Amino acid sequence: MAESWATLGLDLHVEPTGPGLRRGLTDALREAVRSGRLAPGTRLPSSRALAADLGIARNTVADAYADLVAEGWLTARQGSGTRVAGRRVVPPTGTAPHPRLPARPAYDLRPGSPDLTSFPRAEWLKAARRALTAAPHHALDYGDPRGRPELRAALAGYLSRARGVRADPERIVVCAGFAHGLKLLGTVLRARGARAVAVESYGLDAHARILTGCGLDTAALPFDRLGTDPAGLSGADAVLLTPAHQFPMGVPLHRDRRTAVVDWARRTGGLVLEDDYDGEFRYDRQPVGALQGLDPDRVVYLGTASKSLAPGLRLAWMVLPPGLAEEVAAAKGGVDTCGVLDQLTLAGFLTSGAYDRHVRAARLRYRRRRDALVAAVAARAPEARVSGIAAGLHVLLRLPPGTEQSVVQAAHWRGLALHGLARYTHLAARAEPVDALVVGYGTPPDHAWSGALDALCAVLPG
Ligand SMILES: Cc1ncc(COP(=O)(O)O)c(C=O)c1O
Repeated sequence: MAESWATLGLDLHVEPTGPGLRRGLTDALREAVRSGRLAPGTRLPSSRALAADLGIARNTVADAYADLVAEGWLTARQGSGTRVAGRRVVPPTGTAPHPRLPARPAYDLRPGSPDLTSFPRAEWLKAARRALTAAPHHALDYGDPRGRPELRAALAGYLSRARGVRADPERIVVCAGFAHGLKLLGTVLRARGARAVAVESYGLDAHARILTGCGLDTAALPFDRLGTDPAGLSGADAVLLTPAHQFPMGVPLHRDRRTAVVDWARRTGGLVLEDDYDGEFRYDRQPVGALQGLDPDRVVYLGTASKSLAPGLRLAWMVLPPGLAEEVAAAKGGVDTCGVLDQLTLAGFLTSGAYDRHVRAARLRYRRRRDALVAAVAARAPEARVSGIAAGLHVLLRLPPGTEQSVVQAAHWRGLALHGLARYTHLAARAEPVDALVVGYGTPPDHAWSGALDALCAVLPG
């Protein structure tokens, strides 16, 4: 958006305005004039220039201009182009005032959240009621900074069974989301004298910023068709990886590289921080177990409820090498920072089998969405290539070179929130530049899913 409006020489913020390119553009321009942000007399860019900036058809811009001329907001004169009308437009009596622009996109295919409408409310309530009824009074007091023992025991059982993690409840620390766990680890590593934590060329900027906020350097590792390459690890004290399903590229870390990372850690005393953010969602028959199983003394395992249940719970867990659990717990300030009732509820949810039931049902629903997405793209946008489909709640959709920004822009104008790969690319990425979308198919509620898929196909180069 910023670049498109820069052509106008204006610093103007516009919100997405719902489905329909022409309507979206017309509404946004009308709002800019109505609110005074485009002053009377301002000359607008030619329809050709604005269309090129927005990555949309010239006719769409010409139609939007024509609508606004007809409504009296703009004037068009041969030789002087299209300008904002010189006086305020009084809407004809009897017409409704212009509705407020919607703050939310009509459709959302950004990665990050699961379908929040499928949160298992009834089961969670049951587990919460049971947990509160059974909790002894002292459970409501300040507790162990590592988290409630019931939850740590339940997690140890679940993680070893489902993810191949070698988990001892004594070495589990519960935290308020992965981001919180990473911050605690960054603090401890820095206090131990670490200077640099290597990160992947592709990933969440927010996570790299957490590490730099702890005073650590975050150099990017090279990335190729086998995934992240640990060859660039010299000089790092630790490395942050998404081994089961690289975020956002979607490939698992190649088995030779899994071994190489662990060898590096053993050789140098380095630490591997394993982000297993979507480990529950694997759709093919080749299980990718946790890297931590290879060496629990050198790998910190981090899991989260943000994909399997909901990010708003702010519940995650770390399985730490011996010696580190106490330091990480101390970095919490010596108190438990996560609510006891949610911890006890999750413990009951895990031990009763409700978590497994929920994850199995969610996996089936997301798998169907993934299949529909792959089929729709193949049929309607053969120029786009889908990859990273074996796991998780997102896919990578490769686009023809040079088209990423215009596709994201066109989606924006249709009221479809989409993220391009650029925003997940480390500034110093060591990888071939790729034009792609990171499509989160978990995010929409069921009723909006097919509309979101249609909107996506409509903006893909066909
Ligand atoms: C790569 C990655 N790691 C971890 C997480 C989970 O973060 P948190 O537990 O802080 O919500 C996410 C969530 O979107 C993610 O995309």
